[in-house]
Amino acid sequence: MNIAILGAGSRGANVYGGALSRMPDVKISAVCDIDKNRAVSAAERFGVGRENCFFDENAFFEAGVIGDGLVIASMDRDHYRQVVKAIDAGYKKILLEKPVSHRLEEVEEIVKTAKERGVDILVAHVLRYTGFYKTVREIIKAGKIGEVMAINHQENVGYWHFAHSFTRGNWRDSETSAPILLAKTCHDFDLIYWFAESAKCVSVSSYGELSHFKRDRAPEGCAERCLDGCAYFETCPFSVKKLYLDKRTPLGWGMLQAVGKNNPTAQEKLDSLKNPENPYGRCVYFCDNDVADHQIVAMQFDNDVTATLTMTAFSEKCYRRIHIMGTKGELIGCDYDNYLTLNTFGKPRGPFGGASKRVRIKSPLKSGHLGGDDGLCRVFCNVINGEPVDKELLTTVDVTLESHKIIFFAEKARKTGKTQLL
Ligand SMILES: NC(=O)c1ccc[n+]([C@@H]2O[C@H](COP(=O)([O-])OP(=O)(O)OC[C@H]3O[C@@H](n4cnc5c(N)ncnc54)[C@H](O)[C@@H]3O)[C@@H](O)[C@H]2O)c1
Repeated sequence: MNIAILGAGSRGANVYGGALSRMPDVKISAVCDIDKNRAVSAAERFGVGRENCFFDENAFFEAGVIGDGLVIASMDRDHYRQVVKAIDAGYKKILLEKPVSHRLEEVEEIVKTAKERGVDILVAHVLRYTGFYKTVREIIKAGKIGEVMAINHQENVGYWHFAHSFTRGNWRDSETSAPILLAKTCHDFDLIYWFAESAKCVSVSSYGELSHFKRDRAPEGCAERCLDGCAYFETCPFSVKKLYLDKRTPLGWGMLQAVGKNNPTAQEKLDSLKNPENPYGRCVYFCDNDVADHQIVAMQFDNDVTATLTMTAFSEKCYRRIHIMGTKGELIGCDYDNYLTLNTFGKPRGPFGGASKRVRIKSPLKSGHLGGDDGLCRVFCNVINGEPVDKELLTTVDVTLESHKIIFFAEKARKTGKTQLL
């Protein structure tokens, strides 16, 4: 099976290229990236001939269909334009990075076109493909907590991930990428929508701001770039020292973005981050960022299920917490654990009169979005091959439309301070 990759960055080359090329029956047949170094390095890594290594999307699409499937892993604002071109070029199986588009009308148009033209588009909401969230869904489907009534979900982005991606990096500006709910928390809306077992969300309200990562929060003596003699270089948790230069950085995967290459040497990191043109060398309080660093959303679904979501930059780790409350019990979990707690009402055991049971997670993989990256790639290959797949899992573009829609209205609610009816 041949798969082409458009956008050979952290996701395209490292995650999807890596996972797909490890599968025995898959060959990466073409790569395209406007960054020549990235395109060439991915082509060499995956054994793609020079004739199928492109630096321009038009040239790539003019070459016709060069794969049984196409992965689109460019930046957020490229997705809509490129998926339209991919459908026109004749691709029938597409794995599209999230978000589909920053405009609701464009998401609707893609859903319609995909249906009319018989194109399968899987959106990379990778968490559905993890052992942890598949187990949550199975417990709900099995009726173990009765009818779902309420969901309380928390996305803890992690202070270091927020500093890298949403203050200094690619997703800092809602005008060039998307509001953080769409750029990051779309995974969580996909999960909430899945667990709510509803056809649609009907009402939404939201509050949140960019409160911390801005100029007026910079401490006295703070430099605009960490390596320009900042008084807090050694101690600030967000400094480039802690996030990129120290050996024990949590941001190994972010080096391609921050320094321009995977596994850079200490000197390469220093030289790159000293360069005044490198946005990742900036102090987190002196960036051109505008996305909220904490936000909450309250939702009501058409089956009366209510849900709340909290997104916050202010956590030590990058993880999610979920609490699903049903008529017969409740399910509580933290997605870096390999178990869920299932409390069943009315059983004469446990500290508060109920039965508390630990449910082990099947395949609790800890790498690549808890195993969701590999899981999605496997399902994408099944879809290309026409093999049977669990339809429950499929994050097709029409399913994504419903969860993206909640986000568009939540942003409107946050900006206007008014509850929105969908
Ligand atoms: N599913 C997930 O869990 C997940 C996680 C992180 C990022 N993402 C999404 O994946 C996408 C890529 O993110 P990333 O972290 O790989 O970013 P990245 O910056 O590492 O990679 C993006 C690549 O696209 C290339 N590119 C830009 N314009 C292009 C064009 N016109 N044609 C071809 N290539 C082009 C860039 O040069 C870059 O190499 C984003 O939309 C992001 O929101 C998804």
